[in-house]
Amino acid sequence: MKINKKIKVVEKSFKISPVSAKKLIKSFHSDMKNGLCGKKSSLKMLPTYAKRPTGREKGDFLALDLGGTNFRIFKLKLQGKRRISDILSESFVLKKEHIANTEKELFGFIADCIKKFMERQKFSKNKQHKIGFTFSFPIKQTAIAKGVLLGWTKGFNAKGAEGKDIVWLLNKALLGVGLSNTKIRALANDTVSTLAAKSYEDEKCDMGVILGTGTNACYVEKKKNEMIVNIEWGNFNKLKLTRYDKELDENSINPGKQVLEKMVSGMYLGDIVRIVAKDLAAKGIFDVYGYKKVFDKNGVLESKHVSTVESDSSKKLTKVKNVLSMLGIKRSTYSDRSILKEICRIVSLRASRLAAILMAAVVTRMDPGLKRKHTIAIDGSVYEKHPGFSKHIRSTLGDIFGRKAKNIVLSLTKDASGKGAAILAARQK
Ligand code: BGC
Repeated sequence: MKINKKIKVVEKSFKISPVSAKKLIKSFHSDMKNGLCGKKSSLKMLPTYAKRPTGREKGDFLALDLGGTNFRIFKLKLQGKRRISDILSESFVLKKEHIANTEKELFGFIADCIKKFMERQKFSKNKQHKIGFTFSFPIKQTAIAKGVLLGWTKGFNAKGAEGKDIVWLLNKALLGVGLSNTKIRALANDTVSTLAAKSYEDEKCDMGVILGTGTNACYVEKKKNEMIVNIEWGNFNKLKLTRYDKELDENSINPGKQVLEKMVSGMYLGDIVRIVAKDLAAKGIFDVYGYKKVFDKNGVLESKHVSTVESDSSKKLTKVKNVLSMLGIKRSTYSDRSILKEICRIVSLRASRLAAILMAAVVTRMDPGLKRKHTIAIDGSVYEKHPGFSKHIRSTLGDIFGRKAKNIVLSLTKDASGKGAAILAARQK
């Protein structure tokens, strides 16, 4: 396919050259360093009071996972020999009224779900049940089971929670529904649970990454005593923005914040594609039969659509046609469909390359010469489901490290929020 020259301009603006990749790694290192010693930095570098598991952690646990599209509850057994069994889980859809009104509504809803789950699973009323809580937002922790919410991300906006201890808020809500036989033993960011879950079985795991609705990473910092540090890399801001990124940011609920997250994570990929499509439609490059206005509306394209478009290898691009039709564009030419596919490819390729560059930065903070093996535990819908995403991360790591890239193992770690939270809870007395 001959790509229109104008698309080439778009492609160029999304490209990251090897020189810029190196610069990004350098400025990421300097933001990590500044963040760690409390100097001005776009990275919060939050101590988590969590250490890597030994693999011997044991017991029956409840684990909670809040921070994506669903609230999830897990029941599981840690066998104590790097093995987890009897995993059972249930998902509860989070509606706008739960996440964007007040903390009482959010935590009240969660407590209700926990109560129902415990009743359905016949948890004994006479025993105390241990809980590990994965809470996927920036929290300032002062202990493993204590953490103040620094600010909501990913469209959550329940008032009254910022600045408060999340464990206290949940305990209050649990008492409110009459549950007094539970004990929250650990509170952890999802990246930390992911690292814990993988390193329970693989001691080479020293980094956890989420590439889903949001994005973030944590790693093992050994400067003083070993501690897992939550980087909050979604807020990294030493980046070259395209005009499309700027438009997205200006119209977001948190302008100037989570700059990297807005270029990489599932919550935003569809919208970047939409904004590029809108621009190309206005220029007449992307024709779509006079339906241009479709692309004016924030949020019409989701990352799952971007995945569908990119996975289409049919002769007539039928899946792309269906996505356009779902948007209200009932007629489309082959050329329109290929342009949309090309925009999706350009946008998601940059996302995967950025993710890889930051992974390279974190690994070289721990091991500058990349002399050891590192397993990176990764969870999240974008990494798991987006066509080619993991392949592009691998190839970018290859570009950066050459043959040494084989020292980095990427491992999809599913249900990590549940497993990891339980493991961290098991470490506490
Ligand atoms: C949050 C992080 C979280 C990430 C992935 C971001 O928006 O700030 O705390 O780890 O999403 O869920």
